[in-house]
Amino acid sequence: MTIERISSAQVDEEERTLESTVRPRRLDEFAGQERVKENLAILIDAARHRDEPVDHILLYGPPGLGKTTLANIVAAEMGAQIRTTSGPAIERAGDLAAVLTSLGKGDVLFIDEVHRLSHAVEEILYPAMEDFALDVVLGKGPGARSVRLQIEHVTVIGATTRVGSITGPLRDRFGATYRLDYYTQAELEHIVRRSAEILGIEVEPQAATIIATRSRGTPRIANRLLKRVRDFAQVRGDGRATAELANGALQLLEIDALGLDALDRQLMRAMAEHHAGGPVGLQTMAATISEPVETLEDVIEPYLMQIGLLARTSRGRQLTPSAWSHLGLTPPASVQAMQPGLFDA
Ligand SMILES: Nc1ncnc2c1ncn2[C@@H]1O[C@H](COP(=O)(O)OP(=O)(O)OP(=O)(O)O)[C@@H](O)[C@H]1O
Ligand SMILES: [Mg+2]
Repeated sequence: MTIERISSAQVDEEERTLESTVRPRRLDEFAGQERVKENLAILIDAARHRDEPVDHILLYGPPGLGKTTLANIVAAEMGAQIRTTSGPAIERAGDLAAVLTSLGKGDVLFIDEVHRLSHAVEEILYPAMEDFALDVVLGKGPGARSVRLQIEHVTVIGATTRVGSITGPLRDRFGATYRLDYYTQAELEHIVRRSAEILGIEVEPQAATIIATRSRGTPRIANRLLKRVRDFAQVRGDGRATAELANGALQLLEIDALGLDALDRQLMRAMAEHHAGGPVGLQTMAATISEPVETLEDVIEPYLMQIGLLARTSRGRQLTPSAWSHLGLTPPASVQAMQPGLFDA
């Protein structure tokens, strides 16, 4: 059985269309991430004044927080073209060379999942980012020689959910690196209202608050929930998203007051019931919910940690007292006695 996850990092065709409809195009339409926005604005302004392309930028953070959106905004603010590709999509060094030579001055090359570039492709990227040059090897064997081709001054924007997996040399070549954080309730409310307006959905303020509270700090999820609430409101009501209908839709989706879904709770319950709250290794946790370790690490766990339900220890992950109380369970006294440091925090 496949459980549809509201927090899934997968984006299908239909959702891609929705996302492109509601995606902010300009920096001033982009809600939240104030520090990142301020830094980007300075970067863009300075580059414009010098009539130069912006420095290479690395954006990282959990899925759905706006990395792709910001990459597109940077290109738009610079009046530049953007070419989008991704680490796994560039199979051979020649593919990247072809893309790089096709770009004009100031254009943006956006590389999603930049941590998944192959070694050979990365080697091409280094001189391209540093010297705007491609080192091409001609011939084979002892007669082989390398020639250097100049390319235009382009901006490479990389995005990743796992900055720790990026090689040191690649990281060093990005002049600016920004981390995106989970959004606040107020920012998410703003995003819900904005999307509702664009999509022509009538949302009562209280319903917007409810959706925002349960979006796991993530605009993509806020937009998903908004859509589901609209569907529910059309079937069960007159199309207007009221607080009551919003709650009804979320209940049907099994999303609780903290924005956790059935799978999150299943994971925490298994940790509580079978492992006395932990510490539990990542592999074991992933097996519990039949999800890949990557999903656990990139999507599920960061949010549970952010809201203080899960703690990282040297021996694995551990439920916090808030997790036990969210599940309505009492942590065994032995656990509390064994983990004084953790449970005092
Ligand atoms: N600050 C924001 N204001 C309004 N909408 C936003 C904002 N950030 C993201 N969104 C919305 O959330 C959706 C997801 O954003 P985006 O695709 O940029 O995320 P991402 O970080 O690239 O995710 P992934 O890691 O999965 O590629 C977009 O459709 C966009 O409309
Ligand atoms: Mg993206």
